[in-house]
Amino acid sequence: MRLRHKPHAIPHMQESSYIIFDPENHKGSWKDIFKNKNEIELEIGAGKGDFIVSKAINTTDKNFLALEMNTNAFVSACKKIEENDLKNVYGIVGKAEELTDMFDENEISKIYLNFSTPWPKKRHNKRRLSHENFLKLYKVICKTGAEIELKTDNEDFFDASVAYMEDFGMEIIEVERNLAEEDSIVTEYERKFRDRNMPIFHLIAKFK
Ligand SMILES: C[S@@+](CC[C@H](N)C(=O)[O-])C[C@H]1O[C@@H](n2cnc3c(N)ncnc32)[C@H](O)[C@@H]1O
Repeated sequence: MRLRHKPHAIPHMQESSYIIFDPENHKGSWKDIFKNKNEIELEIGAGKGDFIVSKAINTTDKNFLALEMNTNAFVSACKKIEENDLKNVYGIVGKAEELTDMFDENEISKIYLNFSTPWPKKRHNKRRLSHENFLKLYKVICKTGAEIELKTDNEDFFDASVAYMEDFGMEIIEVERNLAEEDSIVTEYERKFRDRNMPIFHLIAKFK
């Protein structure tokens, strides 16, 4: 599904104190933005922000960053953060490919990948956010022992993600092939799949 172009999206986010367009200027100093030393967790491909906003509301002793490259979707996340007047979450407009320009070593404590694009064609597999090429970037910016938590509706993408992480030497902590709704913060995409009674696959893996 293509998102409607929203001409107001970029101007709205540029006016907002919650959205960061120059993440490279905060490399190594993200704690200053939050004005505390709490752990920082990062969602990549945050879409309309339901997950990260819920996390931030319910976990006030942690800081959260939401990365998204699609400004038409992300303006909704921006509005949700503003409406809740949250102090522990910011959005970043940017691409996962640029993570090591944005973050120093050890700045991130956990990464969330919710319903990432599955890229089913073999020639596109390298674009998957769980592919080794991205795991290498995550390992640089994450603390030792940091976790990646992934949810998806796509079984092939899920099985490949488990294999990518195992092959990368990560410890697989949890593999759940039918995640109960009460155990999940339901995202926009997840809602659509759950409404069609599709199983939700859930994985937690840890950098050793
Ligand atoms: C299928 S949507 C899921 C959105 C949301 N996480 C959810 O569960 O409702 C995938 C999102 O990931 C974003 N995305 C895909 N590749 C990305 C990348 N390389 N860097 C940043 N965002 C990316 C897309 O723009 C899109 O908004």
